[in-house]
Amino acid sequence: MSKIVVAGSLNMDLRFAMKRMPLEGETVLADSLLYNPGGKGANQAAAAAKLGGSVAMLGCVGKDGFGDALAKSLEDCGCDVSRLARVDDPTGTAAIYVDERGRNSIVVVSGANGRCDTAYLKGCEDVLKACDILLLQLEIPYEAVWHLAKKAHALGKTVILNPAPAPEEGGIPKDVLACVDWITPNETELSRLSGLPCEDPEQIEEAASKLRALGAANVLVTVGSQGAFLCTPEMAELIPTEKVKAVDTTAAGDCFNGAFAVGLSEGMTPAEAVAFANRAASISVTRPGAQSSLPSRGEL
Ligand code: ATP
Ligand code: RIB
Repeated sequence: MSKIVVAGSLNMDLRFAMKRMPLEGETVLADSLLYNPGGKGANQAAAAAKLGGSVAMLGCVGKDGFGDALAKSLEDCGCDVSRLARVDDPTGTAAIYVDERGRNSIVVVSGANGRCDTAYLKGCEDVLKACDILLLQLEIPYEAVWHLAKKAHALGKTVILNPAPAPEEGGIPKDVLACVDWITPNETELSRLSGLPCEDPEQIEEAASKLRALGAANVLVTVGSQGAFLCTPEMAELIPTEKVKAVDTTAAGDCFNGAFAVGLSEGMTPAEAVAFANRAASISVTRPGAQSSLPSRGEL
């Protein structure tokens, strides 16, 4: 099995469960508050490790209780956290509102994640050299992501970029896209990155083809309860997922990405790895929270 490195964010999630989202200027009473380890990077690392991947996490947390809890959560999942940095800024935090239909709204305070910069990552080049697959998201400084994608590509590693959250402006530089083996947006992110509408399968296929034309080797679009759309030089195909009762979709995309990386690391074909990732993510949406919702390999 090949090795996976995840470089990205770690957040403590404060999950407020409520019947419906507050309107602007309104106060609503929540039904519960759950403190749960999260952050897109950490969730993807935890998902991959719980599914049997050999995973190391690169990222920054504060010298505070949240930082301790986030490092321990990843360690308990089987992740190598020996190169996590403890910095002076407070650990990243997310406020997550979830309504009774399982839909969420998230606000992130980046804190220590802002210190996961090129200087820190340059100090971790030995970890990058030892891996086979690099998994990235966009919750750490863009320059750091661009640097790492280029470096990993030059070293011959497989680069997976989950472009979440999608940049408000500026997009992803073409020379970075050219270093990406797999870009894994959801429909909203794909629409923003391609500048095209993504409301039906034909539009998604067209937008995915545009990202390929811009340089990304393969595009994998997650489409929620429908599964994922795989767009490679050889195929453009929707790979459906199972019907489940979703209670909270937080980290579904993260679970999907971590699982997809594990599938590739085990030598599955891309279509097999997508089916594996769909299966893992469909379990995650049936449970509340981010890392608390991630399935183990045994459950799959
Ligand atoms: P989130 O931001 O909520 O973590 P996302 O928007 O990044 O998710 P989605 O496309 O919503 O990503 O979901 C990712 C994957 O999770 C899907 O491709 C699918 O495999 C699974 N999934 C999501 N929602 C459902 C659902 N309601 N039922 C079954 N599987 C789901
Ligand atoms: O993708 C879900 C994650 O987004 C949450 O865990 C939250 O921390 C935000 O980073």
